[in-house]
Amino acid sequence: MNITLCCANTKAEPWLAGLRMALPHATITEWHPGAPPADHAVVWQPPQQFIDEQQGLKAMFNIGAGVDALLKLQLPSSMKIVRLDDAGMAVQMAEYVCHAVIRYFREFDRYEADVAQGLWVQRKPRVRNDFPVGVMGLGVLGERVTQALRQFEFPVRGWSRSPRSVEGVACYAGPSAFRTFLSSCRVLVNLLPLTLDTRNILNHDTLSLLRPGAYVINVARGAHLVEEDLLALLDSGHLAGATLDVFRTEPLPAGHPFWTHPAITITPHTSARTLREESIAQIAGKILAFERGEAVVGLVDPVLGY
Ligand code: NAP
Ligand code: GLV
Repeated sequence: MNITLCCANTKAEPWLAGLRMALPHATITEWHPGAPPADHAVVWQPPQQFIDEQQGLKAMFNIGAGVDALLKLQLPSSMKIVRLDDAGMAVQMAEYVCHAVIRYFREFDRYEADVAQGLWVQRKPRVRNDFPVGVMGLGVLGERVTQALRQFEFPVRGWSRSPRSVEGVACYAGPSAFRTFLSSCRVLVNLLPLTLDTRNILNHDTLSLLRPGAYVINVARGAHLVEEDLLALLDSGHLAGATLDVFRTEPLPAGHPFWTHPAITITPHTSARTLREESIAQIAGKILAFERGEAVVGLVDPVLGY
């Protein structure tokens, strides 16, 4: 079995070494233009030339959860794409989102500013029941985030495409329930995949439905958010702030208003990193399952786009 690795912005050597350890009977090499055809590929944002040359792949294994970059390419209709299914990302996402929610809820950002000025000020405790947190996307990552938030006893709501039942979470599904879901949220967390249906979903119209003083956390993709609409709603006071991990252009360009906006906290697309060891173990297991003709978890539906 031949496996080719084609991962942008990723050091190839440790991945090749790990995959060779996990799949000792396979021939595993880094792709280069003109490389021989492989049976399977391990990829992250490969160029179109890679797809054009590797039309006979049985499957492509994406070393991330989001497949939006991959689905932008011209792919053969028969091409199977398998994404990472948690592989250590869900716990990272849960800690990132809980940190952002708690930082805002407990006003730690304001305490930091006070302390920097030598001020000893105690603020009135906020009412937890008055802080419903809504999670858009109840998949592998979103569901884990809802369960972590529940540990802190926030009222939690969730929104997905198809109806879901998640313990302790008020679940909403589909476009018809979207406005009701939004209008109940004081904090909104985005964990949707980027698809034709979800691009620009965080916009003036939808964010205006959140309760006044709401807080937005975007950890999915930058293109979900219309950036100027967020800025306008922060400036009008309807939104209180935002924590953003993903941006329409990454790295965030120098001089972009998000760098310095006092109500926006940014991180460099780091909320849930791909962990090499866990990912290699998962991908190796799936390649072997695939070869045995077994079903694998995380097969992408190209029509739905995730
Ligand atoms: P997933 O398991 O595929 O879950 C996706 C969820 O979104 C599902 O609940 C799905 O609904 C829902 N959904 C999809 N389209 C929808 C629509 N049009 N309306 C309402 N709900 C919709 O994905 P995941 O593993 O949780 O990952 C989610 C996203 O997180 C990834 O696609 C990626 O963009 C992002 N991510 C970011 C980072 C980072 O570091 N910032 C790291 C990893 C992933 P159903 O349940 O009905 O299918
Ligand atoms: C990271 O953003 C991922 O999709 O895994």
